[in-house]
Amino acid sequence: MPLVSFCPNVSFLASHNGSNMRAIVAAIRNGILNAVPRALISNNAGSGAIAWAQNNGLSTYHVSATSKGSEMAADTAIVSILRRYNTDIVVLAGYMRKLGPETLQAFSGRILNIHPALLPKYGGKGMYGRFVHQSVLKSGDTQTGVTIHLVDDEYDHGPVVAQAPVGIYPDDVVETLTARVQAKEQELFPETLRRIVSGEIDLDKIAAAR
Ligand code: GRF
Repeated sequence: MPLVSFCPNVSFLASHNGSNMRAIVAAIRNGILNAVPRALISNNAGSGAIAWAQNNGLSTYHVSATSKGSEMAADTAIVSILRRYNTDIVVLAGYMRKLGPETLQAFSGRILNIHPALLPKYGGKGMYGRFVHQSVLKSGDTQTGVTIHLVDDEYDHGPVVAQAPVGIYPDDVVETLTARVQAKEQELFPETLRRIVSGEIDLDKIAAAR
């Protein structure tokens, strides 16, 4: 299914605030990105992402292995929600769970994640949020950044779609670096989706080049 020159339905998965979902929806509202925000699925019923999405016209769903009885049932529920909204692109906006095989297969090459470092550096299990920035600061690197990648069955592993650098200042601490990296994420994600919709980025080509 080509994604070029059309207005894709975008659905989101988020566990906490969903800051990248918010930035993408804002870009759609501001006419910067031609897409339709549809559903938000969260494994966390009390998440800020669910509250925000409810107030902003998205359909919201709480899906977790606990609420559905098993990982497999949650996987099936996620696919069925994504299909119900004719989802063309799935955005992981701070989703802290691994996707199941049914979802990965049904939306293969159409699931994007954002990671707060320049993958393949500082990725993998346990490398999220402040743990990433702590490791980066400890390393003495002078540059970090943001990566958007296609999702496969390993954490932070699928092919890279876009990256942007973020400089590290000598007086940076985890909080200052987090804030600067997140600001960059919220620019890069809408911009990358815009380039996908315009045909400038071809997800099929990126997936095939693996
Ligand atoms: C982002 O920094 C992103 O790198 C990661 O989730 C973080 C944001 O999540 N994937 P949230 O907005 O706090 O929910």
